Amino acid sequence: MAENLLEVRNISVTFKTRYGILKALDNLSLNVKKGEILGLVGESGAGKSMTGAAILGLIDAPGQLSSGEIFYKDECISDAPEAVRGHEISMIFQDPLMSLNPLRKIGDQLVETILTHMNISKSEAIKKAKNGLKEVGIDPSRLNSYPHTFSGGMRQRVVIALALAPEPSLIIADEPTTALDVSVQAQILDLLKKLCKERGTSIILVTHDMGVIAETTDRVGVLYAGRLAEIGNTREVLTDPKHPYTRGLVESTPRIDSNSFKKSLFQIPGSMPKLDAMPSGCAFHPRCAFASDICTKKIPPILHKRAACWLLENGEL
Ligand SMILES: Nc1ncnc2c1ncn2[C@@H]1O[C@H](COP(=O)(O)OP(=O)(O)O)[C@@H](O)[C@H]1O
Ligand SMILES: [Mg+2]
Repeated sequence: MAENLLEVRNISVTFKTRYGILKALDNLSLNVKKGEILGLVGESGAGKSMTGAAILGLIDAPGQLSSGEIFYKDECISDAPEAVRGHEISMIFQDPLMSLNPLRKIGDQLVETILTHMNISKSEAIKKAKNGLKEVGIDPSRLNSYPHTFSGGMRQRVVIALALAPEPSLIIADEPTTALDVSVQAQILDLLKKLCKERGTSIILVTHDMGVIAETTDRVGVLYAGRLAEIGNTREVLTDPKHPYTRGLVESTPRIDSNSFKKSLFQIPGSMPKLDAMPSGCAFHPRCAFASDICTKKIPPILHKRAACWLLENGEL
């Protein structure tokens, strides 16, 4: 198998509205390697969830994947994503109740998921469900409990067990800890990371939180207005960001090991454009201190396999 488990090639997602065609994702490409955690970060509305939805074939009408292709294990899945959804690629959402049926015992839900995706007997599935719960730190006796009897953090642990149960190669986790207390957030992310590393399962971790990116991911893609602004090794991107937007995100993130608590935190002026008012050229140019003429006219491609910024062409960053 090729090095890449998943290859997203030049995808666009468009919405036909009475104001015209809106592009929620514009010519986005990214890869996920086997066993790695790829973070997707950006402000609200940047297209993070849409990227996950596009991969899983879960774009709500009238939205559609209007161009590009998605390859999973070297096979094109963009025409039939349901062939891999749920077992090869499973998902975790921000709200555990999106994944759990409130009216059914969690054990029944786990066993059903396992039986749907794996060719094993019911007693084996029950054994697997018990093991799955144990691994996420929940006593197997809780198989008979209903979702509402768990705290938010425990519920998200159940969802992790549910996502891992079919032994997927890739998990798309969309803001899996955003609804949780900060102390619980770290526990859940550590657990997800540990279990996936043990199994060699890849993760696409969607978050708006640079702290989560720094703590959890191997590589990171920065999204801005439906386009990829920067992508690379997390450490490199965070310590030496090439795109002015990434720089702004990094500089506006508090760090305990720096003097940033003494200084006031940097803020990127302005806000992300709405889809029906996209600037010409680089979508970030109206907020960018470095913008020049070309930035207002031409959309920059990803240069040097790293950032979509014309400054890179002249080696200025
Ligand atoms: N049904 C829809 N019609 C039009 N635009 C939509 C629809 N759903 C999402 N969008 C737009 O797609 C863009 C990306 O949204 P999303 O992926 O949810 O952002 P994120 O997860 O980064 O916060 C946003 O501009 C959003 O307004
Ligand atoms: Mg989202």
